Amino acid sequence: MTSKPKTYHVKSFGCQMNVYDGERMAELMAAQGLTQADAVDADVVVLNTCHIRERATEKVYSDIGRLRKEQLRKNGKTPMIAVAGCVAQAEGQEIFTRAKVDVVVGPQAYHNLPDLVAKAAAGTPSLDTDMPLLSKFGALPTRRKVAPSAFLTVQEGCDKFCTYCVVPYTRGAEISRPFAGIVDEAKALVDAGAREITLLGQNVNAWSEDTRGLHDLIRDLDRIPGLARIRYTTSHPNDMTQGLIDAHRDVESLMPFLHLPVQAGSDRVLKAMNRSHTRDSYLRLLDRVRAVRPDIALSGDFIVGFPGETDAEFEDTLSLVDAVGYAQAYSFKYSPRPGTPAAAIVEQVPESVMDERLQRLQAALNRDQHAFNAATVGRTCTVLLERPGKLPGQLIGKSPWLQSVHLIGDHAIGDLVEVTLAAAGPNSLTGIERIAQAA
Ligand code: SAH
Ligand code: SF4
Ligand code: F3S
Repeated sequence: MTSKPKTYHVKSFGCQMNVYDGERMAELMAAQGLTQADAVDADVVVLNTCHIRERATEKVYSDIGRLRKEQLRKNGKTPMIAVAGCVAQAEGQEIFTRAKVDVVVGPQAYHNLPDLVAKAAAGTPSLDTDMPLLSKFGALPTRRKVAPSAFLTVQEGCDKFCTYCVVPYTRGAEISRPFAGIVDEAKALVDAGAREITLLGQNVNAWSEDTRGLHDLIRDLDRIPGLARIRYTTSHPNDMTQGLIDAHRDVESLMPFLHLPVQAGSDRVLKAMNRSHTRDSYLRLLDRVRAVRPDIALSGDFIVGFPGETDAEFEDTLSLVDAVGYAQAYSFKYSPRPGTPAAAIVEQVPESVMDERLQRLQAALNRDQHAFNAATVGRTCTVLLERPGKLPGQLIGKSPWLQSVHLIGDHAIGDLVEVTLAAAGPNSLTGIERIAQAA
């Protein structure tokens, strides 16, 4: 490709931070005068990749191949391809050489995307996976148009080195973004239409500046006029301070929801994972959170089939799930990641055993999710409307407990509506507007 690109498309995979990064990359392209297009038509396609589980790299190669083929068939040309995200960080050099893509850019370097695209358009493909000391955030454009519920990255990277995980390698060491820049971005998000902000970090509750922690940041953001709701994710049990727990009691805009991954219920497995918390310390932590915020909805991440996990150890995970009663959760089969210590453990659990464990775990988690939803029927709460539903006049939004709630009413996306939760389906609830009820 040698002509100047006019259109772009960003495709993000993986976690919420990648969604955030994808939005910021789109804003960078738009600031260069490019307009958004479908993947099959765009002059530049950014693949914002995730490396967390198996076949991540293979998937990138096949996506590149498919994109090229589809554009060739439809428009008689191939697009400029930029590979971004965690696969770019981990396997960028190899993808650059093997797939001959135009740009490879890592998660800490994407503020350079416009330069890299310009260079590629002039005939010089390039790779940038630097992790500069100076953060990218200062070089990103101001937020202008966002959804009612917006993401804001405040912390990146991880120093925990769980033995199964690639994130410390792809995202680098833990860094906290400076307070002032976060507050400015939060204000810009609210000016651009956000009513709810979810603070993001690989270990978001490790955020700190001088003596201040995440709870201080939350208390300051709470004062921004027009910002109705604050959430944060993902937290690590070891960074869950009393200050943050207390914020769940005191700060009204902080939503009663906590995603706190535990991964497994057996102490031996937790130790082998290098989680540095025990089953018991995790459960006691949740007790302390529930003591200040009894209605808090809990969420978690689980891995089944960590190398050497026995049947009895898996049962410990099930009994932990029973003890907690999660409102929702994510569960995964263990996937050996190249270069991580766990991948070198000899006794890998057979696929069929992992399949069976995952099925049992998910059945338990689904059961608890339905029970949680059913238990909220009859409560009144606010719903932040985020998108249209399938039926005429129907809108879908989120409850404080992050449940999907649909309602019929004369409202716009971005409205906060007071409802009574009237019925619970498998994946969502029906809300009835309180004013409508009174009429
Ligand atoms: N920093 C966060 C989330 C990191 S990745 C945390 O520690 O909670 C999100 C989830 O992916 C993890 O919580 C874990 O459950 C899962 N995960 C990470 N590496 C994995 C692997 N190698 N195999 C399977 N699941 C994995
Ligand atoms: Fe990965 Fe563990 Fe860090 Fe989470 S805390 S990102 S699971 S190493
Ligand atoms: Fe995936 Fe990177 Fe997020 S590996 S889960 S995109 S931090």
